[in-house]
Amino acid sequence: MDPNNKVHELIEKRWSPRAFDSREIEREKLWRIFEAARRAPSSFNEQPWRFIVGEKQKGETWNKVFSVLTESNQRWTINASVLGLIVGKSNFTKNDKPNKHKFYDPGQAAAFLTFQATAEDLYVHQMAGFSPEEAVKVFNIPAGYEPVTAFALGYIGKPDILPEDIRKMEEKKLMRKELSEIIFSEWEIPFKF
Ligand SMILES: Cc1cc2nc3c(=O)[nH]c(=O)nc-3n(C[C@H](O)[C@H](O)[C@H](O)COP(=O)(O)O)c2cc1C
Repeated sequence: MDPNNKVHELIEKRWSPRAFDSREIEREKLWRIFEAARRAPSSFNEQPWRFIVGEKQKGETWNKVFSVLTESNQRWTINASVLGLIVGKSNFTKNDKPNKHKFYDPGQAAAFLTFQATAEDLYVHQMAGFSPEEAVKVFNIPAGYEPVTAFALGYIGKPDILPEDIRKMEEKKLMRKELSEIIFSEWEIPFKF
């Protein structure tokens, strides 16, 4: 493929850092980021996503999200100016039937907010490393809603603020499967670009 044939610069720029700068995020930027999530598509337009958003040193929400993260994620999220949880709604509102896309759709909303954040020169790092059971308790999340992922959001920081083992993880080169391994014209027959 022609080396000048590139993906959008926001996709080139995005990655999941661990070194965050705890500088506060401007309100209008925060609004645009979550407005982007709100505009994501969803099955039957159910919008089965809810976001719990905590700002560092503003109220208790940030501390509560931090408290449900695994210890390994706590080691680097300590400087993130925003910590949050994404929660999925299990059943459709109109008929109370199970929504098979209760996690898929929040994932799309997460992608939308991530790219808006990237456009604002901010970074998102999603985390499966948290306790959904603890999150339900700490935030009194009612039955019918399930925590999907946690996330850190903020300006990027200098890697030297990180403990050495985590800093080394930051330096690892981005690895991805080849297009031929994931894009097919028939099952496992690579699509020809
Ligand atoms: C649903 C989800 C859960 C993740 N959980 C964690 C996590 O608990 N801790 C962590 O350090 N990174 C976590 N990550 C980040 C991934 O490891 C990262 O996205 C992947 O290695 C690709 O790197 P990149 O995002 O920098 O391109 C998670 C990402 C996603 C999408």
